[in-house]
Amino acid sequence: MTVAETSQPNFPLLGCSMDELDTPALCIDLSAMERNIRRMAELCRRHGVAWRPHSKAHKSPQIARMEIEAGALGVTCAKLGEAEVMAAGGVRDILVANQVVGPQKMRRLVDVCRQADLILAVDHVDQVRAISRATSAEGVSVRLIVEVDIGLQRAGAAPGEPTVELAKFIAAQKGVQLAGIMGYEGHLLTIADAEEKSRRIRDALAILKETRDALSAVGLPCPIVSCGGTGSYDVAMHCPGITELQAGGLIFMDAFYRHKCHVADFEYALFLLVTVVSRPAPDRAIIDAGRKSHHGDHHPSLVLGHEHDIRVTRLSAEHGELALGESARSLKIGDRLLLVPGYSDMTNVLHDQFYGIRNGRLEVVLPLVGRGRLQ
Ligand SMILES: Cc1ncc(COP(=O)(O)O)c(C=O)c1O
Repeated sequence: MTVAETSQPNFPLLGCSMDELDTPALCIDLSAMERNIRRMAELCRRHGVAWRPHSKAHKSPQIARMEIEAGALGVTCAKLGEAEVMAAGGVRDILVANQVVGPQKMRRLVDVCRQADLILAVDHVDQVRAISRATSAEGVSVRLIVEVDIGLQRAGAAPGEPTVELAKFIAAQKGVQLAGIMGYEGHLLTIADAEEKSRRIRDALAILKETRDALSAVGLPCPIVSCGGTGSYDVAMHCPGITELQAGGLIFMDAFYRHKCHVADFEYALFLLVTVVSRPAPDRAIIDAGRKSHHGDHHPSLVLGHEHDIRVTRLSAEHGELALGESARSLKIGDRLLLVPGYSDMTNVLHDQFYGIRNGRLEVVLPLVGRGRLQ
């Protein structure tokens, strides 16, 4: 048995039983996560699309390497700071699906270009000019992907002609290469009717294909057409013209993906281990995990094995309130429960590390190295 980490006084020993972990503790069921990773890699292989999982939910180069070993071609990041962490952790092919702007970032992105094969999303000539100036001055080159607004109304160039114009501009600059286009159909994930959801996603992604065709028509290369999230991968992978999927959160799954996005194919692999600290009324229990331990805005966290008789009803900063049905009233102070986070992405950033569990024992501690790398 080795000490997992010595900087904290009550840090657990590798190999210890899960019962010995202090709470709240964010745990990964390693076998379930590995099955989810293998499943997605296999689905992508079967459908002839590449997998570039978004790493915003795990922020861990170790997990990224597991995804790549299973067949992912690289990762997607939300921030340059996360890309730095991935590059330092040995990941080569990195898409920052976001606009990177400002002189401080120009210096840093040149450094990342020296370690990894970076792609940056752009939607305006001003971003391209600044990046091109920085990279060409240092003798490096970076791939650029045009982010196209396919209805999300976040960032993104308008599809069709405006994207073609931007792509032409990129193709004429030094220190940058046109890598393709991307879009995110994030506004369509929670449509309840399956048929309508599928149709609207297909319509949104058809915009990407039409834009790619418009680029080809003027002789511009478009090797990458990137899109897709956990809430939409199953439709996106069948859409013509799509070359890669960014879906990442499915390696963990959560209550939001399962119940609001209706994703059925992946297992819960992320759990928050909590302790009942108070039993103020027969139908009410208080746990040691509130808003600072899990995120329930998109969907309340669920209590594993008690989805029908316990509900998470209220979170204050450090207290979670549970409403107990008749069959859960024997719950007592000191009992431990496993919560399925309401939203894994926003839960994970509240924690320093994941506890990787296999067969009930702590196998590995995985720090969220990219956590807080917001710049
Ligand atoms: C650009 C982009 N791609 C993909 C995703 C999907 O990520 P996930 O599969 O983790 O939900 C998101 C989610 O916010 C996103 O912003």
